Amino acid sequence: MDERGAPAKKVMRELREASEDDLHFRDGRIFGSMCTDPLPIARRAHAMFLEANLGNPGYYKGTWRLERETLRILSKLLHGRNLGGFTVSGATEGNITALWMARNTTRRKEVVAAKTAHFSVRKAVDLLGMRLVEVPHDDMYRADVDAIGRKVGKDTAAVVAVAGTTELGQVDPIDEIGELCRDRAFLHVDAAFGGFVLPFLDHPDTPPWDFRVAGVSSLVLDAHKMGMATIPASHLLVREASHFRKIAVESPYLTSVYQTSLLGTRNSAGVAAAYAAMRALGRSGYRQIVARCMRNTRTIVRRAREAGIEPVVEPIMNVVAFRVHDVESTQRALDAKGWKVSTSRNPRALRVVVMPHITAKSALAFAHDLVAVSQKG
Ligand SMILES: Cc1ncc(COP(=O)(O)O)c(C=O)c1O
Repeated sequence: MDERGAPAKKVMRELREASEDDLHFRDGRIFGSMCTDPLPIARRAHAMFLEANLGNPGYYKGTWRLERETLRILSKLLHGRNLGGFTVSGATEGNITALWMARNTTRRKEVVAAKTAHFSVRKAVDLLGMRLVEVPHDDMYRADVDAIGRKVGKDTAAVVAVAGTTELGQVDPIDEIGELCRDRAFLHVDAAFGGFVLPFLDHPDTPPWDFRVAGVSSLVLDAHKMGMATIPASHLLVREASHFRKIAVESPYLTSVYQTSLLGTRNSAGVAAAYAAMRALGRSGYRQIVARCMRNTRTIVRRAREAGIEPVVEPIMNVVAFRVHDVESTQRALDAKGWKVSTSRNPRALRVVVMPHITAKSALAFAHDLVAVSQKG
């Protein structure tokens, strides 16, 4: 750090230069991220609550109220009753916290999850000194229920099921997994992506995956993905609020007696942003956004199919992976044309996430280039 501060103008110039080097969702070129351009009112809400800290809730009664209200809205949406929970920084923190609670409540150490679960589950298991028991997936890349059934036993603390897998947007058979877990183990649902998509699909044909499933103990969903809020904002919801006691730590010197969150000082701007997005959009607003993402996804799939490029599985959400001849070179060729896509590992494919910042025009242009670069290869 320099001895003397730099003039604000100079600092701002440096910031602008850095921002210009970033990619921006508004340019409509990013198909490789599960985040998106937040709703304008969410940005405003974020800026209003920058100094709030829900780690010390007694000073921030208004923000705390927003967080409680957010929990109430989501409980209703996800068919829960008297759920416990709070806003977390992301599904990674949500997954860690849920498994922490499962470990301390059951006093067991095994976590059963399919290979298709997000890598944050590995982080959680490692941090918590737990053991991951990986099970295979079926031919639609959903967790194999029978395999889970064979692995759930006296050492199982929790099963993690996914509603919207990161690579393919698939939904594990959570209703069946719930039956297996009832009275035997925690069932944590990672709905980081699907949580703000599935309730708003026009023709949902996925079996129940939320708190309608009696075996579901906890669920995380990211407001900073399809929730249209700012980063970081995610929600951890827990059926039995009393389970939080198992991870409570006394918090002397603060306005709360105990803390049950992994983080101490807690970003609270995301709470306000998530609240603002949900209030401003309502169910109909999210339905419209999801419908547009699905239309654009279908456009891309249709164009790709016409050129003989098949998706790995029929997408049920706005995530789709394509079987292309050479994944890396296709990704590079698209990159050269300014399109940012990612790849899936299982199976190796070109992964395309069609978020709300993608317009119909950019979906068409992308599909055109996807076909063109694939045919060249
Ligand atoms: C299914 C799933 N779980 C967890 C995560 C991690 O979420 P975050 O980056 O918000 O911590 C992701 C991120 O893409 C995800 O897709």
